[in-house]
Amino acid sequence: MCGIVGYIGQKDATPIVLNGLKRLEYRGYDSAGLAILENGQIEVRRDAGKLERLASLVQESPLHGQVGIGHTRWATHGEPNAHNAHPHLGMTGDVVLVHNGIVENYLDLKEELKEEGVVFNSETDTEVIIHLVERYLGAGRTLEEAVRAALLHLRGAHGIVVLSKDEPDKIVAARMGNAGGVVIGVGDGEMYIASDLPAILEHTRDMVFLESRQMAVVTRSGVKVSTLEGQELLHEVQTVSWDPVSAEKGEYRHFMHKEIHEQVRSLTDTIAGRVDFDHGRINLPKLNLTPELAERIERIYIVACGTAAYAGMVGKVLIERIARVPVEVDIGSEFRYRDPIVDENTVALAISQSGETADTLAALEEARQKGATLWSIVNAIGSQAMRVADGFISMQVGPEIGVASTKAYTAPLVDLYMLAVHLAELRGVINEWERKGLVADLRLVPDLAGRCLDREAEIEKVAQALVEVRSALYLGRGVNMPTAYEGALKLKEISYIHAEGYPAGEMKHGPIALIDADMPVVVVAPRDPWYEKMFSQIEQAKARGGRVIAVATEGDERIPPIADHVLWVPETPWMLSPVTTVIPLQILAYHIAALRGLDIDQPRNLAKSVTVE
Ligand code: M6R
Repeated sequence: MCGIVGYIGQKDATPIVLNGLKRLEYRGYDSAGLAILENGQIEVRRDAGKLERLASLVQESPLHGQVGIGHTRWATHGEPNAHNAHPHLGMTGDVVLVHNGIVENYLDLKEELKEEGVVFNSETDTEVIIHLVERYLGAGRTLEEAVRAALLHLRGAHGIVVLSKDEPDKIVAARMGNAGGVVIGVGDGEMYIASDLPAILEHTRDMVFLESRQMAVVTRSGVKVSTLEGQELLHEVQTVSWDPVSAEKGEYRHFMHKEIHEQVRSLTDTIAGRVDFDHGRINLPKLNLTPELAERIERIYIVACGTAAYAGMVGKVLIERIARVPVEVDIGSEFRYRDPIVDENTVALAISQSGETADTLAALEEARQKGATLWSIVNAIGSQAMRVADGFISMQVGPEIGVASTKAYTAPLVDLYMLAVHLAELRGVINEWERKGLVADLRLVPDLAGRCLDREAEIEKVAQALVEVRSALYLGRGVNMPTAYEGALKLKEISYIHAEGYPAGEMKHGPIALIDADMPVVVVAPRDPWYEKMFSQIEQAKARGGRVIAVATEGDERIPPIADHVLWVPETPWMLSPVTTVIPLQILAYHIAALRGLDIDQPRNLAKSVTVE
């Protein structure tokens, strides 16, 4: 999970940058580097491996200067090695950049730049950005103007920090979308830059948070903030609390809100290092999925609780569809009491944010006793569900503090998709063309999530219209049936409004009796293979006087005339659509609870980690 640190001031930048990177270590990374402006030249040290390796490079060949930037990288495009590690220099060596995010259109940009004579030194997507900056510097623009012009070419979500030897008294930073934040720490005659607060909290508590599509020109004495279009903005310096927990919340009122917004980054980190876009391959080394095991698996039981179980239900659709292996989803607390049919050709796959949920662990234990192979998809490093498993996928979402799970729901959806593709390849049930198509779609995910987040203001208005409701029905089908369950769970656990998730096709078997003008019906109806069925569901709810809130795909012209409110999501490949359809429902639940003035991060009666049966 990439991290960024920068410094401009009077002190030696090298230890400040290295310490800042150290404080971001918890996010995980596989290479690291820094660039220091030393005697008018940019000097870079970078390598694969941990920060100790970088520190020893710096010790062997010291760097001194008062301006510097550093980065920890989780590989997405190109393996972790010194060439692919950040910072990346331009061809002249006069400009240097660190970057968080994925440049979705980097192949097109790379071709364009190669035709202009640019020689690439890495396999990264990031390198196109610095060459674009150099292109515009060559045309006589300032660093700020060149960065602005370069960014307008990029698709995707990005946080970037750039340094030029020709403008040594400034660092330019920018944020597009939500690929992690960009925060500027204000000191006395010195300024700090970071992707995450912990990197710079030891130096200052006065922060300027960049919003999406904003740039900052940072000098020793201050910061100038402008839009990507060049309009200068008044910026607010926020003083974050000395309490480390509140400080972590940064610009957000609640952790849940922060974690919803972290999803672009957590999804980027989820695919980072696991996806080889060039060859259309998935790499899940910790899962220990051998060709022999792939061949003999006869059944997978996904065992999990709450939100994690709903992620598992999406996984069932994906694994059965892509890898053609039968999957059952078992609620952790049920599995061990029903004497499940498990043998050595069974895999029990636990999904757990905490990795310590008692019922999930008990289900794993039951499966172990019956001879199954154990896998887990887990967030908390070193937790029990990780330790007892024969193989695992770590979620890479960072700490999730809010009791209502959000980023730890969307990440396993992508993990399960990757697992399905990998399994399918090893079992020989998909051809190369299909595999490459499925893998290529992963590149879109972070940006699609960001586009959902961009619609927060519209969703907040819908929340205002629903704040007084007493009950709500959530309907979905197929791969988005679990989205309905998860949307309802989010609402009930933080707003205390009764909400019911239901498979839409089951409505006519009973629940339709509930529909009247007082019953809002949230219908998850993106353009997926179940769209027509969901559309007729909306018509049925309206015919009974129901109030319909539809999750629909941008550009859909049929739903707005009949729905009372529409929560728009961008067009998403259907197997990945549960990642986007759930985000408006998370935001909706969040705002309803916030408007009701509730304790969102610690709802009554709930614990983050349920370690008792
Ligand atoms: O730590 P886990 O993922 O195993 O937790 C499972 C559930 O307790 C958890 O998802 C719970 O349902 C959340 N409060 C949902 O937001």
